[in-house]
Amino acid sequence: MSTNVLIVGSGGREHALAWKLAQSPCIGKLYVAPGNGGTRQIAENIAIDATDIDGLVQFAEKNEIGLAVVGPDDSLALGVVDTFRARGLRIFGPTRAAAEIESSKAFAKNLMSEAGIPTATFKIFSEYDNALAHVREHGAPIVVKASELALGKGVYICKTLVQAEAALAEIMLDRVHKNAGNEVVVEEFLDGQEISIHAFCDGKTFVLLPPAQDHKPIRDGDEGKNTGGMGTIAPLSWVSADTLQTLGEQIVRPTLKTLAKRGRPFSGLLYPGLKMTTNGPKVLEFNARFGDPETQSYMRLLKTDLLDILEACVDGTLTELAIKWHSGFAACVIIASGGYPDEYKKGVPLHGVAEAERVSNVVVFHAGTSFDSELKTSGGRVLGVTAIGDTLRNALDRAYEAARLIEFEGMQYRRDIGAKAFAPAS
Ligand code: AMP
Ligand code: GLY
Repeated sequence: MSTNVLIVGSGGREHALAWKLAQSPCIGKLYVAPGNGGTRQIAENIAIDATDIDGLVQFAEKNEIGLAVVGPDDSLALGVVDTFRARGLRIFGPTRAAAEIESSKAFAKNLMSEAGIPTATFKIFSEYDNALAHVREHGAPIVVKASELALGKGVYICKTLVQAEAALAEIMLDRVHKNAGNEVVVEEFLDGQEISIHAFCDGKTFVLLPPAQDHKPIRDGDEGKNTGGMGTIAPLSWVSADTLQTLGEQIVRPTLKTLAKRGRPFSGLLYPGLKMTTNGPKVLEFNARFGDPETQSYMRLLKTDLLDILEACVDGTLTELAIKWHSGFAACVIIASGGYPDEYKKGVPLHGVAEAERVSNVVVFHAGTSFDSELKTSGGRVLGVTAIGDTLRNALDRAYEAARLIEFEGMQYRRDIGAKAFAPAS
């Protein structure tokens, strides 16, 4: 029997999920709402916005969708899962209440305190004067965060007090993130390598994916503003199986347990972002969804049918499934529009994608692209060039060889994705 699947979202993550689901022997019709210039080649794009919950439900009912899969955080925060479930529709992702672990940094911080999960020391403020007094007392480096969802741009890593004061003014006075900045979390700056942990969750138990590493800042050497993510590698050979298991026990398990205790059982994908500090691993944030661009790397390595995994998460039968991965490594290099993460042009013609995909073991996932007679840019992060290889070096070489074949006005990408994996241990 085949299952019609609706993927909600329009990024590279959603293209990667669609690419993998399209390979399932049990897939029926595959839709992406709203999708992008890449998903249209392997699925049917539906012109419904990812935040138009009523539109999505109506579409699912009309088109006999057997499973919906949610990509973006804002759809989850709007309660897409609750609405689908209330109508008897099957959907992969956490409820709005469980997704608060991502949508409210203040909620996540308080939960971590309750569950004894290691994280940066923090204070939460809703008054500018109090926040300002605190950062002046504490000094730099310090991290200032808008508490709610801000397109991955609400986090300010402040190396100086002047930067911290400017961040507070931007969030709380200028309100550049609007209501997302009603509350501000001010926290200790953590030093160390950053890693992404992903766990499939079925409401009762969890299964970890291999560890991955994203590269958040826009420029090489982790310089410049934070972005949604400029490239990933997976797995990380310096994170052993034992360490990964310990992270599962010390972070994922207590988080799920505490959420369940608060009446918010979590099913879907839980993604803690961690810093591996000299004082041990510490949680930077929780995400209630697949990472972007981690998913682009993961889907290249996943051996098991993704549809089976997602169904098991929805059905609460994860323990019955053995999830398998290909050996070797995957890398993803994000190609972004000039100016991103600030203002950038849209509608710029794109060239070289087909040539890039001819490099062996390369798949190019689209993010901010659209197609009207030709392929054009339509977002900040435009393409995710992925490659697999027996070694990480191999995967990276292929991804960069392919990236060099892509051309569009103003394009930018980091030249040092994965470089930290080769640096001598410090
Ligand atoms: P978040 O959205 O909270 O994950 O923050 C985005 C990025 O900012 C993270 O991926 C880190 O690279 C960085 N970051 C967040 N919090 C801290 C912190 N306390 N110390 C150092 N870097 C941080
Ligand atoms: N990898 C960054 C994110 O998905 O938030």
